[in-house]
Amino acid sequence: MNSNPADLEFAPDAMRRMGEEVVRRVVDHLATINEQPPRGDVDAADLCRTMREAAPEAGTELAPLLDSLFDEWIPRSYNTASPGYLAYIPGGGVFPGALAELIAAGVNRYTGVWLTAPALVQLEANALDWLRAWMQFPVQARGLFTTGGSTANFAAIVSARERLLGTELRRGTLYLSTETHHSVMKSARLAGILPDRIRTIAVDAQFRMGIDALEAAIAADRAAGLLPFLVVSSAGTTNTGAVDPLAEIGALCRTGGLWHHVDGAYGASFHLCPELRPLLAGLPEADSLTLDPHKGLFLPYGTGALLVRDGEALRAAHSETASYMPANREGAEFYDPHQYGPDLSRDFKGLRVWLAFKLYGAARYRAALAEKRRLALDAAARIAALPNVVMDAPPQLSLFAFHLAWPGSTRAEEDAATRELLERVTRRGRVIITGCHAGGRFLARVCVLSFRTHQDRIDDCVAHVAEESQAIIAR
Ligand SMILES: Cc1ncc(COP(=O)(O)O)c(C=O)c1O
Repeated sequence: MNSNPADLEFAPDAMRRMGEEVVRRVVDHLATINEQPPRGDVDAADLCRTMREAAPEAGTELAPLLDSLFDEWIPRSYNTASPGYLAYIPGGGVFPGALAELIAAGVNRYTGVWLTAPALVQLEANALDWLRAWMQFPVQARGLFTTGGSTANFAAIVSARERLLGTELRRGTLYLSTETHHSVMKSARLAGILPDRIRTIAVDAQFRMGIDALEAAIAADRAAGLLPFLVVSSAGTTNTGAVDPLAEIGALCRTGGLWHHVDGAYGASFHLCPELRPLLAGLPEADSLTLDPHKGLFLPYGTGALLVRDGEALRAAHSETASYMPANREGAEFYDPHQYGPDLSRDFKGLRVWLAFKLYGAARYRAALAEKRRLALDAAARIAALPNVVMDAPPQLSLFAFHLAWPGSTRAEEDAATRELLERVTRRGRVIITGCHAGGRFLARVCVLSFRTHQDRIDDCVAHVAEESQAIIAR
């Protein structure tokens, strides 16, 4: 390090050495990812207590810090990068995403404002436009890279509120289903939608929003003098992977003058594959769409995305300026991120998406997504055929949910057995699966969305579910 304490720059050789050391550790980690358990030992409360520390007054070497990170702390986590990660909603984190983060932070350019890094912002605009084209949104659509699906849902609700309610906040009513992701409820609250103006619509036997119940709720609110303005549907729910009837909901919204937002954080990426588009019919007609590239586009966490059909609505909700800001003399021709989202200074998220698609090409992404769906169909068919398994939600995309039952079993016994199954399968160390409450019972769920998951892991998953469920029932 430099001997002048006020000089924080490292010499080129030192930077190279440190960079090489970090890359070596990351690559070593990824090279052994197949052997690492999908769920590390997270019983770490005592460890965390010992880790609390005061800010260091003097600096240390990089190597011991990397030792602690890679040998002690990183392994003590859910291994979301593992091919055996079938829990919650996986993704994995492709290596080009890591390269993009190093470049973006290394050069640290200002991509919140078009004028300060026009070519870099253009890359981000290109990546957003690719998403737009794959989702079959019109050219007038605009988008935003966000920190995740939650903030994309938030920006969508704010855009709908600004466009349709204006100052009539108190009268506005919003519709979601009992299976809608909880980030939508949180976003509605943050967007100032009052709790007594949120309607939770019941789902059908496939966990999809009931269209008749939705229509009735909208009509009742209108008759009561309220202002129905927004329906949030799901293109793949987190619990069971259900795709709401997007086309019917869209038609209802268009007739009634409501905004239709589709939360596609889990499922929208399957729209990249033309042969899978019928599963998401109606998605391209939505007023806005949440995607979550850190799920279905396999990018590192912190990469969400929003598309808004009428880009002007997104801009109108977020546009603000000040006299000190550089004037954008080109007007609306060039995408200016700070005019479309809440951030001014921001990280360069678009580079991750751009670099990953440039390095792989879209065809390989489509192949990977199609493989995930095939694997989920295969796993679901084989698990459904096991004795004592009831398939509650066959895969609509790449997620399915089931429970254990046997002659004479009570609901409480089935819930307990299903919960135990998850734990026993996960303890075998090849896959991690998690559960959820849906339809009044506890369900085990398998979500195939990590780009690293291939047939061998699915075979292990099926074998371990078969063996452990048999052991539980045989007791
Ligand atoms: C359907 C759905 N919507 C929204 C979210 C929230 O996304 P994020 O965690 O990226 O904020 C999730 C997260 O799992 C999700 O599954």
